[in-house]
Amino acid sequence: MSKKSVMPTWTWHSVWPAPAKLNLFLHVVGRRADGYHLLQTVFRFLDFGDSLRFRPLANGEICLRYPTPGVAPEEDITVRAARLLQSTTGCTQGVEIDLEKRVPMGGGLGGGSSDAATVLIALNHLWQLGLSREQLQALGLQLGADVPIFIFGDNAFAEGVGERLQAITLPASYYVVLQPPVHVPTPLIFRDPELCRNTPVLDPQHWQVGEGKNDLQPVATRLFPVIAEYLDYLQPFGAAMMTGSGACVFVPVADLNTAHGILRHQIPVEVNAWVAKGLAHHPLRDV
Ligand code: C5P
Repeated sequence: MSKKSVMPTWTWHSVWPAPAKLNLFLHVVGRRADGYHLLQTVFRFLDFGDSLRFRPLANGEICLRYPTPGVAPEEDITVRAARLLQSTTGCTQGVEIDLEKRVPMGGGLGGGSSDAATVLIALNHLWQLGLSREQLQALGLQLGADVPIFIFGDNAFAEGVGERLQAITLPASYYVVLQPPVHVPTPLIFRDPELCRNTPVLDPQHWQVGEGKNDLQPVATRLFPVIAEYLDYLQPFGAAMMTGSGACVFVPVADLNTAHGILRHQIPVEVNAWVAKGLAHHPLRDV
């Protein structure tokens, strides 16, 4: 009997990062006819995020190696991103997706959106589809308002529902990030009758770091008071704010030692907290 070859018939491609983001401020400046809100915000990428690996499949199947408990694979945003790319381009290749999740869900850190963006960028490359970044951004917008920024690749001042993006240069900064023990459903915050929807429009050219507030924060802290408690932990160290629709909160800190000092000595041990570095751009910007 001949010995079977042990050569692998496939390989996992290298790790593709999907960084988290912060909203350094988030103003609601109006509402579209379809109910979506018009925003102004600045997105900053973090050196903290999820990791994905891909194994191309010749049979056209799209599958997730470790599906999130409680989420049907077909509803997972990574699978939906791959299917959208297949249906748009007519591509007959498939893929197995291995997602290593670190970014909490319902945290306002853009985890799911970033995963979807990384799927679009990686499969465009691995399936050799040749779509431009602009085309991928337009596809991303069909999956969620926060997806295009992760394809755009630069920190940005965003308008519209988050799809009109202008690259922005931000100073080096660290952030102490706290994760309150709640998952905030984004639609719940946006449909709240008390949400402020008429903050005056800023001129993006004149925006400065530290300017602005998060209009979603008063609603989120009213519905989930633990978010306010967590903001109180950070308030002594600077302008603490919630990111996105919450629940995570953060404070900018200029240097790493100070950030670690706050984390070690000023935050109760039971609080899920970490220090993240602000990135100059998305790690896949130039892929
Ligand atoms: O785009 P995404 O899936 O993140 O949005 C989730 C929900 O949040 C939307 O269905 C909508 O109800 C609300 N939303 C909004 N305006 C935005 C973004 C989200 O009203 N700009």
